[in-house]
Amino acid sequence: MKIKFIGLLASKIGKEVEIELSKEITLTELIEELVRRFPQAKDELSDPHFYNFSVNGVLIKHDDVPKTRVSNNDTVVFIPAIAGGSKSVKVKGVIKKNFDESSTTYTMFEEKYGFFTSLAKDMVEFANFKKGFCLDVGCGTGILRNVLPDSEIVGLDISIGMLKEARDKLDHVLAGDAEHLPFKDDSFDAVLFNASIFLIPNADLALKESLRVVRDGGVVAGSYLVGFYHNGRNALETIGLKHREVFPSKKLDELVEEMGGEIEPFSYSGHRDVALDFYSVPAMSNALFPGLSYEERLRLVREKLSELPDEIEFVWKMFRI
Ligand SMILES: C[S@@+](CC[C@H](N)C(=O)[O-])C[C@H]1O[C@@H](n2cnc3c(N)ncnc32)[C@H](O)[C@@H]1O
Repeated sequence: MKIKFIGLLASKIGKEVEIELSKEITLTELIEELVRRFPQAKDELSDPHFYNFSVNGVLIKHDDVPKTRVSNNDTVVFIPAIAGGSKSVKVKGVIKKNFDESSTTYTMFEEKYGFFTSLAKDMVEFANFKKGFCLDVGCGTGILRNVLPDSEIVGLDISIGMLKEARDKLDHVLAGDAEHLPFKDDSFDAVLFNASIFLIPNADLALKESLRVVRDGGVVAGSYLVGFYHNGRNALETIGLKHREVFPSKKLDELVEEMGGEIEPFSYSGHRDVALDFYSVPAMSNALFPGLSYEERLRLVREKLSELPDEIEFVWKMFRI
């Protein structure tokens, strides 16, 4: 049987391999066989959501992988669900893993403060989008539903952990990468990025893709974090901490302006505890203390952020193109 690989798997295994099967097997069994033969690519192969599969040119849905049978006459292609060069694929792999581990704490944080719901409400108002067919890029747990009850929403996210929460709330969900949208041109009335655009290493590609899939007269909009402030000063910096940005907010300002879009700052006041709980979400704590275990990150978040002043300004920006 012929198996073709693209992206990271191609660099670890080769672009194409031939293997001989003694009988028909399922795609799940094929992956197990490939892990045995190519242990150097075990991590990528063991996470089938990292890839989409096609058999003889037909795309296979993830739910159908365990029941799809293949034999020696078939050609299977592993297509990366995460697009980009090897450097950005690695960054996105880390982001995906962190959000996979974040769905429970993210939901608890949202139930306690309604933080991302408030942000989403202001974002759709700023976008002047009331109802329609929209793509929610980096949909997370699906909170966009709270502010667009009557829209048909397609949620796309890199993290399966987050998508599992979103699937009961949104009309359709799919695993994928914002930098490579699997939709035809002019498909949506709106493409929305609530608190997700600044986490995408090639945000420029994601915005270009959004402008391609939004219909003429539709809107691309989103929100991004600028920082946590107190008396006009960066509150984290005053206690010796730094939030590492994947795509810096200053670069986003430039990018949106180059694309002819508009930007407006939005500020939310809150107690220090909101910042403490925000950074207790595994994915967020990684922005402060990358490379450490979650236990260690959480310990540091609790220790260091208790030094923050009582009142914090959470500064975000909204954009629309
Ligand atoms: C802070 S959460 C926001 C989730 C949701 N939009 C909300 O408002 O609650 C960011 C989300 O973006 C997703 N994400 C990050 N990079 C992505 C990418 N390259 N493609 C698709 N989703 C991505 C993360 O997995 C995460 O679910």
